[in-house]
Amino acid sequence: MKIPLSRVYIDDVIKQRILAAVDSENYILGKESKAFEEELATYTGTKHCVLSSNWTSAVQLLMLALGVKPGDEILVPSHTAFPSIEPIVHAGAKPVFVDVDETYTVNVDEMAAKVTSRTVGMIPVHLYGHPANMDALLALAQKKNLFLLEDCAQAHGATCNGKRVGSMGRFGAFSFFPSKNLTVFGDGGCLTTNDTAIADKVKMLRNHGRKDKYLHEMVGFNMRFNEIQASVGREQLKHLDDFNARRRQAVAWYRQRLAGAPVQLPVERPGCVPVYHMFVVQVDRRDELAKFLKEKGISTGMHYPVPNHKQPAMTSLYKDLPVLPVTERLVDRILSLPIFPLLKEEEVDYVCQQIKAFFKV
Ligand SMILES: Cc1ncc(COP(=O)(O)O)c(C=O)c1O
Repeated sequence: MKIPLSRVYIDDVIKQRILAAVDSENYILGKESKAFEEELATYTGTKHCVLSSNWTSAVQLLMLALGVKPGDEILVPSHTAFPSIEPIVHAGAKPVFVDVDETYTVNVDEMAAKVTSRTVGMIPVHLYGHPANMDALLALAQKKNLFLLEDCAQAHGATCNGKRVGSMGRFGAFSFFPSKNLTVFGDGGCLTTNDTAIADKVKMLRNHGRKDKYLHEMVGFNMRFNEIQASVGREQLKHLDDFNARRRQAVAWYRQRLAGAPVQLPVERPGCVPVYHMFVVQVDRRDELAKFLKEKGISTGMHYPVPNHKQPAMTSLYKDLPVLPVTERLVDRILSLPIFPLLKEEEVDYVCQQIKAFFKV
C-alpha cells in the first residue's frame, strides 16, 4: 500500500467550474471571487471576508491597515508554521514567542505574563485544526486592549462552544494552500472580520490602494485573488463540513487501533470541535519510526521540527529569545500521520499495524 500524508480532493464538477471561469473571460476579483467572499463570511459567521493571494499576504495587509509599527510587540506561539511570524516582522514589530499547552495551542497564562506596555496584539494559532483556548484569550485581549487575530490556516470549520474559528477574535485569517481543510488549486487566503473600516482598507490595499479604477487613495500592493481559484474554492466549501466529519472519523479509527500502543494521542479541549488538519502523535524514536513507515509506503510529516524561536531567521534578528520547554521537548517527538477526507478505514488499519509492528506490541 502507498499512503500519502494528505490528498487534495478533485472531481469533475470542479473541473467544469474551472472551464466556466475560463470562459467567463473575467479573471481577477470578479463575480466568483465576490460570491466566494460572501459564502465564506456566511460560513464563518462574520460580516466581511476579504480574499487575498494567500494567508501571509492577507495578514501583511492587515498589519498595515492596523498601523502596526516598529517597536510594537505581538504575542504568538513559537510552535506554528513559520509564516505565522512573517507579517509581524515585515511590519517592523517584534514577535514575542510563547509556549504551548497540551493541545499544541498557545499557553494563555504564559501569554498574559508576557504582555508589556509595547504589546499591541496577539496571534493565537488553531494548530492542526484544534481551536486555541478562545475564552481565556478573548478575556485577555479585552483586559489588555490587544487586537486578536486568529490564525485559522489549519482550522476551517473548527468550533469553540458552537462558534466557528475566525469569528471569535477581532480578525481571522485562513489559507487555501492545497493541503488545507479547504483548498484551491494553488495559493489563496482570506481575512474575516466584523470590522467594516479595516475590511475596506484591506480591500483597497490588496488592489494598489484603489478606491475605484483610476483613483489610488493609498500606496498598496497586488495581493488579489482570481476567478479560477474562487470557482474551485466555492465547490470545495460545499464539501467542507462533510470532509471535516470524515477527518474526525479517521481520527476515531486511529484512536481505537492505537489504544495501548506507546503513542501519545492528541487531547481535545472540552467545548472544542477540532477538524484535524493534521493528526499528530508523540512517540519515542520518532525519526526511526518515520523511516520505518516510509519503507512500508506510508508518508508522514513533522510539523514542525525546528521551533520558530530557534529558526536562523529569528536568532539572527533577536538576541533575547526565550526558552520554551514544552515546545522544545515536543519538536523531537511529534509525528504527523496520514489524514485526509477520503482516507479509508483499511488504510488506517495498515498504518496502525505498521506502527505496532515497529514497537513490537
Ligand atoms: C498555521 C499557518 N499559518 C499560516 C500559514 C501561511 O499560509 P499561506 O501559505 O497561505 O500564506 C500556514 C500555511 O502553511 C499555516 O499552516
